[in-house]
Formats: sequence, C-alpha cells, structure tokens
Amino acid sequence: MSFDRAIKIAPSILSADFANFGQEIRAIEAQGADWVHVDVMDGHFVPNLTFGPPAVKAFRPHVKTVMDVHLMISAVDAYIDAYADAGADVLTAHIEAGPHIHRTLQAIRAAGMKAGVALNPGTPSEAVAHLLDLTDVVCVMTVNPGFGGQKFIDMTGKVRALRTMIGDRPVHIEIDGGVDPTTAPLLAAAGADVLVAGSAVFRGGSVDNPGVYGDNIQAIRAAAEGARNAA
Ligand code: DX5
Ligand code: ZN
Repeated sequence: MSFDRAIKIAPSILSADFANFGQEIRAIEAQGADWVHVDVMDGHFVPNLTFGPPAVKAFRPHVKTVMDVHLMISAVDAYIDAYADAGADVLTAHIEAGPHIHRTLQAIRAAGMKAGVALNPGTPSEAVAHLLDLTDVVCVMTVNPGFGGQKFIDMTGKVRALRTMIGDRPVHIEIDGGVDPTTAPLLAAAGADVLVAGSAVFRGGSVDNPGVYGDNIQAIRAAAEGARNAA
C-alpha cells in the first residue's frame, strides 16, 4: 500500500446487500472504488451489530484494492490478531474505545497492518496530537457511529486542524458518515483524502445494475476533486 493524497472513495458495505457481499464488493471495485470500507460493530461500543472476523475473512478474496476495517468495538486489543488473520489492510480503532489507544496502534502495526484511529464527533483533533507517528489513517466521524444513512455533522474545522497537525507525515485523513456530492467538497477542500460513503454509493443500484454505483462514486469523486483543485 503506497501513500498518496489523491482523493480515494471507500464505499461502506454496511449499505450493501448483506446476503450478497462477494458480488457487491466485486461490483463496487469494478465501478471505481479505491478502498472497501468494512464496518465492524459489537452492539456495545455502538448500538448496532454487524459481523466479526470470520465474515471479514470471507470478504478478503473478493477485495482486490484495500480492505479498510473500521472497528466500532470495545475492547479492541484481544481481536487485533484475528483481523490480521482475516486479511485487513487497514485496521482502525476508536480512540474512545479504551484507555490505551497508543498500545492498540502499536499492536496493529506489529501485526502487519496499517493503523487507523477514529474520532467521534465530540472528540477534538488534539486527542491524536501524540499519536501521529503511530498512525497511518485518522478517521474523522461525521456522524455518531452505528448506522448508515445518518445526517452529516460538519467537522470541516477539525479536518483543517488535523491537516495542519499532520504536515508532511504520510497519514491519511478519512471521513466517515454522510458523505455525498454535497458534503464531499467541504471535506476535500479542508484536507481529507479518503471519503467513506455508504448510502450515497449504493443508493439506486444493485449487482444487476452496477452502473449506478459507478455513477454515484464518480459524482462524489468529481465534487471532491473539483473542490480540491479550487482550494
Ligand atoms: C457509521 C459507519 C459508516 C457508515 C456510513 O457508523 O462507520 O461507515 O456506513 O454510512 P453513510 O455513508 O450512509 O453515512
Ligand atoms: Zn465506518
């Protein structure tokens, strides 16, 4: 996984057909997805439940790009090896999920994955100030985690602050929640490069009509790149 700041669209398969993950993943990649975002929820850290390591391992052979696994679970550390074994490329833990995020990020890298740290909307950018050399991805939540299709919470000020803090470090800024062609430009102009989108990618399409996924991905990408170039 090489580093660059080009805009990357990461469809969240939380909005895919849960009976058909393999085909859905292949369809979004064929339609231009850069990363595949996999939302793991435990019914404890967030009020919703999705899937665990065996399911993520089953997704792996279908993902040819980057498998970006977002853990919305608490505690994290006991599961790091299981997600490495499942084939995660990026493993992201929430800073709010436990007292020892520094140790968690070290353990994720030691297990051979890129380490991500996610911030809930109420958590300030300064919370990662001492983590930036241990982190490959800072994920800024623009909804309260747990569900797809929620209303966007504007975090452009936080993104701008992070972009300054990160400087030349090879750290991605990822946005998760309510990303669509209207919100993407604000985030891209503020310095985000990875845009997760669930409902705005899967809306209106299906594996039998995958061109809609492609149109949706392209609409988000064009809006973000336009704003980036104008910034
Ligand atoms: C929310 C998840 C998101 C979610 C985004 O807890 O982390 O990845 O799928 O969905 P949309 O794009 O519909 O807000
Ligand atoms: Zn997510």
